[in-house]
Order: sequence, then structure tokens, then C-alpha cells
Amino acid sequence: MSRNVVGIVMNGVTGRMGYRQHLVRSVLAIREQGGLPLGDGTVIWPEPILVGRSEHKLKELADRHGLEHWTTDLGEALAHPLAQIYFDAQVTQAREKAIRTAIEAGKHIYTEKPTAESLDAAVELARMAREAGVCNGAVQDKLFLPGLLKLKRLIDSGFFGQILSVRGEFGYWVFEGDWQTAQRPSWNYRAEDGGGMILDMFPHWRYVLDGLFGEVRSVYAHTATHVPERFDEQGRSYAATADDAAYGVFELDGGITAQINSSWAVRVDRDELVEFQVDGTEGSAVAGLRNCRVQHRSLTPKPVWNPDLPVTESFRDQWQLVPDNGEFDNGFKIQWELFLKHVVTGSEYQWDLLEGAKGVQLAELGLRSAREGRRLDVPALEI
Ligand SMILES: NC(=O)c1ccc[n+]([C@@H]2O[C@H](COP(=O)([O-])OP(=O)(O)OC[C@H]3O[C@@H](n4cnc5c(N)ncnc54)[C@H](O)[C@@H]3O)[C@@H](O)[C@H]2O)c1
Repeated sequence: MSRNVVGIVMNGVTGRMGYRQHLVRSVLAIREQGGLPLGDGTVIWPEPILVGRSEHKLKELADRHGLEHWTTDLGEALAHPLAQIYFDAQVTQAREKAIRTAIEAGKHIYTEKPTAESLDAAVELARMAREAGVCNGAVQDKLFLPGLLKLKRLIDSGFFGQILSVRGEFGYWVFEGDWQTAQRPSWNYRAEDGGGMILDMFPHWRYVLDGLFGEVRSVYAHTATHVPERFDEQGRSYAATADDAAYGVFELDGGITAQINSSWAVRVDRDELVEFQVDGTEGSAVAGLRNCRVQHRSLTPKPVWNPDLPVTESFRDQWQLVPDNGEFDNGFKIQWELFLKHVVTGSEYQWDLLEGAKGVQLAELGLRSAREGRRLDVPALEI
């Protein structure tokens, strides 16, 4: 097989997402499988060019994985003769400037969400990329999770009849960082550093709702900072200035009501860390990261409200598991493969920077809704 080498400038690979999901589980996993076959005897061979702030961390990472190219200078990375794509998994605040530089250097753009901190900036990046004629994409990994792929299969089969409502539960307890270290970076809990639940999760909810059920038409959000003091990576106390929980209600096209609770201050009493219950006239489903359970209308029990009697049936057992019927790859990797093919062959790719900007739009409107205490329309977005 001949190799079509595609250099990817990867920024933020020392971070949680950049390292685990994007470098190891996606780009290096594609190399481990022998590249990405194009069906014509050639494979796309992604070649990471690591860029970041810390020389010793980059060198250690490159050595660990046998990678040749790394630098602390973004300009140098973008000028590398192999560089075709710029990928960004930095902290959100650092993203806009780096993507602008990469577009100006004529590179294709692939980025983590949120694509920018403000809607204006996100739309401007989408416009710049379009005008420069470069391929562009934003990570929408949840769409490629096994549980949500099964949910999509159910929707496409007509299983639900008319979909009435969606209720999502996302979250888990993120330790404060004093007596047990926090399992997420501290910047997530500081508004001044680009943190906050709405900015983090509403971009995901936007593409999940738009992509599976119907375009989001309005948002009402209530936010809270349940844990006001946390401890950072050095064990120093800091004020949590960002929202650590968001309770959102969304109206979708087709009259569907969606309600999603997102919280880093909740203890898990669910099967998975995110679950969406979808109720339709013909049946219901509960989808998580991996699994999806269904209950058809013909199998729906008839509970009768009577607090004087003990519960006589196990409601959880009245659902059936949707079979895998196939192998599911890592969601981030699936999207990387689609983007790489798009860059090399010009194949269809719908999750671009404009779609990413829609996520930022919902986050911005969600924060405003919470501030003003009212429901806001979500207007169509154009560039
Ligand atoms: N798709 C998803 O499911 C998902 C999940 C979590 C985070 N994210 C997104 O990925 C991005 C990175 O999140 P993370 O959790 O990996 O964060 P992280 O703190 O673990 O990593 C951040 C990376 O950015 C780099 N960086 C560049 N400039 C920096 C600065 N000024 N201060 C601090 N770090 C700087 C760090 O060196 C590091 O490599 C965020 O934009 C976040 O919204 C996406």
C-alpha cells in the first residue's frame, strides 16, 4: 500500500483530550491499524507535528511514541513541509488566535469545541476558513458514541413514532481538589479562564439535539455554582467563578421538548455518565455512552399511583437492550477518519466550523438566559 502522508500540526497534546482521545486513540491508532485505506491501494498516513508550550513535555511525549516532529513554535510547525492540517485541543481561551494563524498559513482546520469563546469569534473563524477555501471541522464526538449511534438507528427506523420529549442527565462528582485531587483541570471552574458548564457542554448538546431530533429553536437555562471553593493542581484554594451546573430547557423543531441537566456536583445513580431518555408515541429509549435500552408501547406497563403500597415491579427490568449488531470504534477516531478523507479526497463532511459556531451560539444564549432569567430564541446562523 502506498502512503499518502498528511502532516497534522497538533496543539494541546499534553492536555487530557489532546493526548488521550486525539493523539493516542485517534491519530496513533490509525497508524497502528496501518493507516486509513482509501480503497484504491493507498492509505492516508497521519504524521503528527506536535506543538505546545513545554519543550520537555513535548520531547518526552514524542520519545514515548517514537514521533519525530515537535516544536514549541507554532509558526515553525505550520511551516513544516508536511503540514496540511492544524488541530487544536488547547484550553479554549488560546484557540481563536492559533486557528486564525493557521488559516492565514493556508492550513485545513480541525478543532475541539467550543470553537471560540464568543459567537462573533466563532462565526468569524468559520467565515475566514470558508474564504480561504480550507477544509474545516469541529469535534462532535458524542454523535459517534455507540449509545447514540444505536439511538440514531432507532430514530431512522421509525421506532419512536412521533418523538415527544428528550431528557438528558449528564454529570458526576468532580472532587474539590483538597482531600482528593480533582479529576478535571482547574481552569474549567474559573470563568476568567474560559471555564464553566454551559460553555463546555452546551456546544455538545447543540449538535446532539440538532443532529438527532430537530434544530434547537429556544433555550432557557438556570445555572449554579454549587461548589464555590476548589483547589487547583498545586493544592492552592481558588474561587470557583464559573457555573458548575446548568439546567436547560430547549424547544426543538417539530414541537419536541428537550431538558438536559448538566452537573459536576451530582453523584451518579445512573448506568452511564450521560443518559438521554427519548419518549415517543410508539416507544421510548434510554441511550448512554455505550448502551441503549428500549420499551415499545406494546410492552409498556400500566403503573398505578398508590403510595400506600410497596412497589411490586422493577421498572428498570421492563426495558430491552438494543443489540450492537456490529463493532463500534472510538468516536473521536471515527470523526478523525471522516475528516482526513474529506481533506484528501474531498468527500462530504458536514461538521464544519459553522456547525461548531452553532454550539457557541447556544452556550452564549444559555448564559444570557441564565443571567436574565428568561427564555431566548435561537436564531438561524449564517455566515
Ligand atoms: N470533546 C470533548 O468531549 C471534550 C472534553 C473535554 C474537553 N474538551 C475541550 O478540549 C479542550 C482542552 O480541554 P482539556 O480538558 O484537555 O484541558 P487540559 O487543561 O487538560 O489541556 C489543555 C492543553 O492546552 C495547553 N495550553 C495552551 N495554552 C494554555 C494556557 N494558556 N493555559 C493552560 N493550558 C494551555 C496545555 O498545555 C494543554 O496541552 C478544551 O477546549 C475543552 O473544551 C472537549
